[in-house]
Amino acid sequence: LRVVVLEGGLSQERAVSLQSGRAVTAALRQLGYPVEEIDLKEAEVLIPDGTDIVFLCLHGTFGEDGQVQRLLLRRGIPFTGSGAEASERAFDKSWSKEVFQKVGVPTPNWALARSADQLPLPLPFVIKPARQGSSFGVSRVFQKEEYPEAYAKAQAEDHLVVAESYIEGRELTVGILGDELLPIVEIRPKTGFYDYRNKYTAGASDYLCPAPLSPGQARAAAEAALAGYRALGCTVYGRVDVFLDADGKPWVLEVNTIPGMTETSLLPKAAQAAGIAFPQLCERVLRLSWL
Ligand code: DAL
Ligand code: MG
Repeated sequence: LRVVVLEGGLSQERAVSLQSGRAVTAALRQLGYPVEEIDLKEAEVLIPDGTDIVFLCLHGTFGEDGQVQRLLLRRGIPFTGSGAEASERAFDKSWSKEVFQKVGVPTPNWALARSADQLPLPLPFVIKPARQGSSFGVSRVFQKEEYPEAYAKAQAEDHLVVAESYIEGRELTVGILGDELLPIVEIRPKTGFYDYRNKYTAGASDYLCPAPLSPGQARAAAEAALAGYRALGCTVYGRVDVFLDADGKPWVLEVNTIPGMTETSLLPKAAQAAGIAFPQLCERVLRLSWL
């Protein structure tokens, strides 16, 4: 298979996307695949003739939200991961949560935040731009005085702003590869919450994989994650972020259809714990998408 890795892009997550792209490129080359790495600097996508498949390492707007998927579909070029519609649903947190509620996937109570003047939910809650990644524009609001600034920060990222009830509990993420649920990762930021800094600064968070959960908790979290992934129509692979509350009940926050793919990212960590080394993970994603 002649592979093009699309990376970089124009979203806020450009830097992460370049790292994912470089790691995937190196891994696939190591396995002998001819890979061309393309840094997408504009919405014009030039794919060389003879490309068999595009490995999408574009996190965020345009790359993860169905737009590039639609463009590649129109040109008949296969690409990795979920299709256009599932990508769009998963990338929009308000749309995802509507779907989750409709089919009974547990997700924290939520509302659209429409103005800085009126609290959208009872405190405490989390404010997020509906369509953004890597925690850009996300704030926790514990006191009403904190709300206007939180709203403004989210609104700067997307005019659609979601407020979600704050779940006190443990932060988990569940990787899915084909039909396989990977071992659950627990994330423990050393300070605050899992924001951009705690995601990408070495040593800022501890990661436990497999997460130290009772079999019942692990099963409940995995089932909720898989139900959320399926409800959105996601395919091939993804990573579902889940909170486990003090009663051991899981709450699905969102599905990432193009999860971080550096060797130390969460999905690769989970794959590693299942005995799937990073190059093999990349190859599995490629093969599952090619089918
Ligand atoms: N949005 C980042 C890349 C992730 O979910 O891993
Ligand atoms: Mg995300």
